[in-house]
Amino acid sequence: MEPVKIGLLGLGTVGGGTVNVLTRNREEIARRAGRAIAVARACARDLHKPRICPLEGIALTTDPIAVVEDPEVAIVVELIGGTGLARDLTLTAIDGGKHVVTANKALIALHGNEIFEAARSRGVMVAFEAAVAGGIPIIKAIREGLAGNRIEWIAGIINGTGNFILTEMRDKGRDFEEVLDEAQRLGYAEADPSFDVEGIDAAHKLAILAAIAFGKPLAFDMVYTEGIRQVTREDVQHAEQLGYRIKHLGIARRKEQGVELRVHPTLIPERRLIANVNGVMNALLVMADAVGPTLYYGAGAGAEPTASSVVADLVDVVRTMTTDPTHRVPHLAFQPDAISNLPMLSIDDCETAYYLRMLAEDRPGVLAEVATILGNAGISIEAVVQPEPPRGASQAKLIMLSHRVFERQMNEALAQIEALESISGKVTRIRVEQLDGD
Ligand code: NDP
Ligand code: HSE
Repeated sequence: MEPVKIGLLGLGTVGGGTVNVLTRNREEIARRAGRAIAVARACARDLHKPRICPLEGIALTTDPIAVVEDPEVAIVVELIGGTGLARDLTLTAIDGGKHVVTANKALIALHGNEIFEAARSRGVMVAFEAAVAGGIPIIKAIREGLAGNRIEWIAGIINGTGNFILTEMRDKGRDFEEVLDEAQRLGYAEADPSFDVEGIDAAHKLAILAAIAFGKPLAFDMVYTEGIRQVTREDVQHAEQLGYRIKHLGIARRKEQGVELRVHPTLIPERRLIANVNGVMNALLVMADAVGPTLYYGAGAGAEPTASSVVADLVDVVRTMTTDPTHRVPHLAFQPDAISNLPMLSIDDCETAYYLRMLAEDRPGVLAEVATILGNAGISIEAVVQPEPPRGASQAKLIMLSHRVFERQMNEALAQIEALESISGKVTRIRVEQLDGD
């Protein structure tokens, strides 16, 4: 039987990794898919650039439309990135009756509702396993493996670059910018690395996870997002003294009042497995009613780990190409007419514990002033640490852990604390999650 021909948009980190995996594992992949899979055509901007993969047998072009419109190409693999050209190419491919595989989380998070509707009406598949958590098959696990469950919440380290930076800063005391440069050289970071460090990439992924976990439309603009830039070595050390690690987490939680979606640095107890996920590795903890907690771990970025997910999608698409389009696994896990808008909670309505760090005048009564404000706001304190200030210093650091409170309560209390004459500057606040199943 003729191989299924694919058209590759992009020959960078993931595109190159995909060619390498398809080439090296050609026979195993054909045995699984039932057909050989061959890259017939590929595009890149610069055809003279050295590539990480062999290019023999692949017709190269700088024109992505030529790939999408090549009549030989049955599946378009979009690995260009971005949301402008990538959206146009994806919709053109769908319109031409071609299946699409993509690793592009920004594209799915922002334009997925439109893309899946177009794919449904044209009877083609759009597969996006590589868009979340690189090589971890988390989309398949949630969409198919956990299909019998009501999913309650997901908490995950879903940006490899950010986790790599936090780990290197903590373990080796390395400088933020230097580690970010290395992540870019290793091909982990986005074309615009501010997407990684500002939490936007994790927010794209969280929007996708929430849609397939809760059966709601993709809603990237509802994700509360904070990046890792404000995490200092000082906070990492204080967190460790209190028995916690700081991780950049994406959290999607279904509550009675609505769904909360948030991405931010988080203290988690160091004894949790997820607190010990380091470097470019990702991990997701999924709480579901029947199975309980399940944990998924693996490389979150990089050429071949991501290619692993791209190729798995290709195998899935090839296996199902001949099936009735109305009887395939739905793109967003739930049948399209069963997807419903759930109320979304603002960050003010989220309830977490907090780590607080402030600089206070080193004199009797200051701690009592702060404690009174917190007490009046209904916030109880779990722990207070006041490291010995340097000899002769007039100010001292005050570190506190609170019990769980609503964000709104904490905001009001912090405004009053920051207004105290005895407190200098802003209070650093990092949310704390126990991730213990409630
Ligand atoms: P790269 O920048 O390494 O590769 C992008 C490729 O697209 C390059 O080959 C580039 O050509 C080509 N390209 C870009 N614009 C055009 C254009 N207008 N016409 C023709 N070719 C074009 O990106 P990655 O491989 O890292 O990422 C690709 C996608 O995968 C992104 O959506 C990213 O978010 C996602 N992803 C990346 C992961 C990773 O670890 N890197 C992991 C998971 C997902 P040229 O090489 O000539 O510049
Ligand atoms: N830049 C992304 C990350 C790539 O570091 O996680 C994988 O999605």
